[in-house]
Amino acid sequence: MSAPVSTEPVLSVRDLSVSFRSDTRTVHAVDQVSFDLRAGEVLAVVGESGCGKSVTSMAVMGLLPPTAHITGSVRIGEKELAGADDKAYGKIRGNDIAMIFQEPMTSLNPVLTIGRQIGEVLRRHQGLNKKQARARAVELLDLVGIPAPAERVDEYPHQLSGGMRQRVMIAIAVACDPAVLIADEPTTALDVTVQAGILEVLQSLRERLGTAIVLITHDLGVVADTADRVLVMYAGRPVEQAPVHELFADPKHPYTRGLLSAVLRPGGEGKRRLPEIPGLVPSLDSQPDACTFAPRCARADDTCTSSRPGLKAVAADAGADAPHRAACWHPHTLQETVS
Ligand SMILES: Nc1ncnc2c1ncn2[C@@H]1O[C@H](COP(=O)(O)OP(=O)(O)OP(=O)(O)O)[C@@H](O)[C@H]1O
Ligand code: SF4
Ligand SMILES: [Mg+2]
Repeated sequence: MSAPVSTEPVLSVRDLSVSFRSDTRTVHAVDQVSFDLRAGEVLAVVGESGCGKSVTSMAVMGLLPPTAHITGSVRIGEKELAGADDKAYGKIRGNDIAMIFQEPMTSLNPVLTIGRQIGEVLRRHQGLNKKQARARAVELLDLVGIPAPAERVDEYPHQLSGGMRQRVMIAIAVACDPAVLIADEPTTALDVTVQAGILEVLQSLRERLGTAIVLITHDLGVVADTADRVLVMYAGRPVEQAPVHELFADPKHPYTRGLLSAVLRPGGEGKRRLPEIPGLVPSLDSQPDACTFAPRCARADDTCTSSRPGLKAVAADAGADAPHRAACWHPHTLQETVS
């Protein structure tokens, strides 16, 4: 899949860490995540449940509760968002960056027509009058592939299927043409044929509007079909980053190998969801100076259990900002078959 990709990142995240503190414990939900996203690019974020995917995106969106302690930098173009107050974020959300969630029904207001809900965003952010907002709402419904948009604009959420409601949520998210769209499991609640339609909508947004997309998904088939690059997270930490074809062809981190093995094994092509890897995800109460995957890793040795591996370029001749990086003391080589 191709789309024009500019060189300047529209979203730049550096050393983002998030912990939640209560009287009794501190949960280190996200630990030094960094990535860049350019216009028209799709970054997939994958990892087991609880590895910090949603907390990362909520931190970028400024939507975490006050109990969250956030460090690091989040830049949208020239704007630094870290430390921005609610008022500043209010201007950024919707205009520069928007998010869609897994469950479209809970995010829509059941007593307002979909046209009114899209129109409200346009009136608030872009100062359109009622007539202009309605006309633009019809255009947006058309953009997200809702048939007969001029009629459906007056319908209520319960009159629409789950897939159509998710399209409405996307229309609301992109109403003000944000540079970045974060989609957190946007198709998980939908059946497979409906999922494909939603992914097509995301593809067309990136192609027609140049929207940069962070796509959080458990579905490795979706990653392969949709993403340009992939960020693999484990227990709050980034463990591998790579262009999508490289990640599938030559996964370096044992955790990534574990995730991909079920898909890559002969006959395993039908398995799209993340497989179970033996062992438990570690508690997030501490930040050990060790590889957190060591208890589940067949390659673990004393180095792994006594010092934390940083993300490093995995090709010997690559620079520090190489596109393929892994946080592992003993990364796999291309020659090793995926087991
Ligand atoms: N408000 C909060 N207070 C305390 N801990 C939290 C809070 N929100 C999330 N966490 C913890 O942060 C960790 C990361 O959660 P997160 O929701 O980002 O996982 P995820 O990767 O999105 O998982 P899933 O695939 O299930 O959606 C989890 O251990 C979670 O319990
Ligand atoms: S650093 Fe060691 S324990 Fe961690 S993934 Fe690599 S080989 Fe396994
Ligand atoms: Mg999540």
